Amino acid sequence: MSRARIVIDREFTVGEVPRRLFGSFVEHMGRSIYTGIYEPGHPEADDAGFRQDVLKLVKEMGATVVRYPGGNFVSGYNWEDGVGPVGDRPRRLDGAWHTLETNAFGLHEFVDWSRQAGVEIMEAINLGTRGVDAARELVEYANHPSGTYLSDLRAKNGHKDPFDIKLWCLGNEMDGPWQIGHKTADEYGRLAQEAAKAMRFVDPSLELVACGSSNSSMPTFGAWEQTVLTHTYDEVDYISLHAYYQEHDGDAGSFLASAQDMDHFIESVVATADAVRAKGKHKKRIHLSFDEWNVWYTRPGDADSPGEVGNHGWREHPRVIEDEYNVTDAVVVGTFLNSLLRHGDRVKIANQAQLVNVIAPIMAEENGPAWRQTIFWPFARMAALAKGQILNTLVDSDRYDNAKFGDTDLVDVSATWDEENGRVAFFFANRGLDEAADVEVALRGFDDARVTRAEVLQVPDGLDRFASNNLANREQVGLVPLADAKAAGGELRVSLPPLSWAVVELSVAAN
Ligand code: AHR
Repeated sequence: MSRARIVIDREFTVGEVPRRLFGSFVEHMGRSIYTGIYEPGHPEADDAGFRQDVLKLVKEMGATVVRYPGGNFVSGYNWEDGVGPVGDRPRRLDGAWHTLETNAFGLHEFVDWSRQAGVEIMEAINLGTRGVDAARELVEYANHPSGTYLSDLRAKNGHKDPFDIKLWCLGNEMDGPWQIGHKTADEYGRLAQEAAKAMRFVDPSLELVACGSSNSSMPTFGAWEQTVLTHTYDEVDYISLHAYYQEHDGDAGSFLASAQDMDHFIESVVATADAVRAKGKHKKRIHLSFDEWNVWYTRPGDADSPGEVGNHGWREHPRVIEDEYNVTDAVVVGTFLNSLLRHGDRVKIANQAQLVNVIAPIMAEENGPAWRQTIFWPFARMAALAKGQILNTLVDSDRYDNAKFGDTDLVDVSATWDEENGRVAFFFANRGLDEAADVEVALRGFDDARVTRAEVLQVPDGLDRFASNNLANREQVGLVPLADAKAAGGELRVSLPPLSWAVVELSVAAN
């Protein structure tokens, strides 16, 4: 049994929970859209072709904002191909994933789907093969009320009222040599600056995200952010971060500690953004948009890995990177969400990549059922319960050694205080593969706490840490009641099973 002692205090807060931290991502890639969220003719599809079984899970998962239409795909995409009568839309080669794009689904369909899902749209523009003109035209088409060629075209295509899309990504992973139209930091920084200006001339209310690094191991990481922000500081609001992690060679200990890399990545980008702020004598602060993150089992040489040339034979919506997630992955995802939440003073947007079928918490079989992967659960519970203020968590945990990160806390935690509803929520991960963890939390300022919810995701009886959900076993891994969670005398005591993710919610007096 390992031990952890945690202290929270009603007065020690990091800031308000940014609700956009619970974002997701839908790309024209594999079966994310086609046979994922959109499958005309599926028994559960509505008249628009939107799968209602998938939508139900999206709502249950609680995603607040969804990034679209890519990803690598956007860097070769003409937004005009996806509007107008479906029968007139061109079929195109998608050079990012080497598939065939029918354009049956485009901007209007995504707006309609987002409204049904109740999510905000985060729209990415193509700064790979296109530039300033296409960017400002797309903003005019989407957001200008009426009386111009493009806004009237939107109305003619079925949407009289503006889409009013506020949040925009200025391209995707432009630092990556795999990106169509890849650029140097100076080339991209200047282009993003001019695109941002032209977009804001059309709609000054936009919030804009500049591309940061595709991951913290990129050779240009750090220098890229510095150069890009030097060009764009006055024009943008956010700089992006992307990161994917996986277990290598059975080294679960290192994999479980991956959130340390996420912490370091975030803190490095904050430092770089603030250095550019100081040097340029800027007043405002740039915030962070972690707009792609997840576990992704890329293997060297895979056609699906960034950096490799995809080869899906120009087929329509083939199965691409449909990872099946296990219990270990769910615990790691819980620690990523903790890292993002603990940095909520600077990370204001985060998008788990992706939403359905492609490295996704939700799976949907063509003409078949939809189900929740293991990683669905930490996201869904945090999106539902992490509200109000982020609490500072002081953690004194037993530690373990691992090859990649060295000394690492066995117990990881984040916590929130929702004053309006009188609720404190804790999100725990126990990284101990074989040991349960005995956790004591001093609840300073929350004397009358009572446990109202205690649930855990753990290795199911008779299975191992690789247990997962799949078409044959759709509910093998889920949340079960956590028996050992008691609050009394200003203290919470929880016993976390080995390798587990848990949520504990307390009801507390308003003051
Ligand atoms: O999410 C899958 C891919 O990963 C995205 O298209 C790209 O931006 C990243 O490399």
